[in-house]
Amino acid sequence: MNIIIITGASSGLGAEFALQLDNVLHNIDEIWLIARRKKEMLEVAQYLEHTARVLDMDVTDERHMERFKKLLADEKPVIRMLVNCAGYGLMGEFSASNISEELGMIEVNCKALTQMTYLCLPYMKKNSRIIQLASSAAFLPQPDFAVYAATKSYVYSFSRALNRELRPKKIYVTAVCPGPVDTPFFDIAEKTGSTLAVKKLTLVRADQVVKRAIADSCHKHEKSVYGAWIKSFDAAAKVIPHKALLKAMQFLK
Ligand SMILES: NC(=O)c1ccc[n+]([C@@H]2O[C@H](COP(=O)([O-])OP(=O)(O)OC[C@H]3O[C@@H](n4cnc5c(N)ncnc54)[C@H](OP(=O)(O)O)[C@@H]3O)[C@@H](O)[C@H]2O)c1
Repeated sequence: MNIIIITGASSGLGAEFALQLDNVLHNIDEIWLIARRKKEMLEVAQYLEHTARVLDMDVTDERHMERFKKLLADEKPVIRMLVNCAGYGLMGEFSASNISEELGMIEVNCKALTQMTYLCLPYMKKNSRIIQLASSAAFLPQPDFAVYAATKSYVYSFSRALNRELRPKKIYVTAVCPGPVDTPFFDIAEKTGSTLAVKKLTLVRADQVVKRAIADSCHKHEKSVYGAWIKSFDAAAKVIPHKALLKAMQFLK
């Protein structure tokens, strides 16, 4: 059985990946949708041509991950693509933050993504793909978004290294690094009252980011960046000293 696995499939980019991959990938038997909210995933599943399997699970819960590991061992699927979208961000000053929520970001964005990748790898074959949702926040430290940006630097670094490690097996990893995307992400990110100043200028649609990401994954690119603003930001972070860029960013607040 050939399958696609998408985490964070109840909303935003994960749901969009499900809709687009449903049309793009052939010879797939099932699309497995993973998130905590079952009702929302069942709604996404209604729009899919492929058979969808809805797995309502918390990727940070060890018992749920153990059940998922057993499911893989029982079904022995070929995972043609894993898309790790589950994640969240929280803006605001670190010292005034809720530490459980800050640590929760590390649990979902880093630990669960790493564990999910590890559990799925034994079921991948030549030409399988992994798409990891990093962020343009990975390119530069982000005051008032400090832990989130650090988690995304982890995802970006991990994905690039893994891509090299897996080359001999012809399994390809793409780190997707969007700037602000119009999804429910900001309902959580901005709940502390802090807002992302550049959002108004740079916000893009989820379908545009996902279309680019799927194309980049098909072309075995290790990074996917959508849009002129974020491409410029990526280039600037490579050539301009971060000290100067961080100072300039203060004026955008
Ligand atoms: N939107 C942006 O501006 C933006 C920019 C750059 C990168 N990203 C990244 O893109 C990814 C997707 O974000 P999005 O914009 O699509 O936001 P979103 O609409 O809020 O989606 C986040 C998804 O993660 C799932 N999730 C969160 N915690 C989970 C947990 N413990 N277990 C299982 N699923 C969990 C949520 O599902 P449940 O609540 O149902 O569990 C939801 O489906 C994230 O990694 C985010 O950091 C987003």
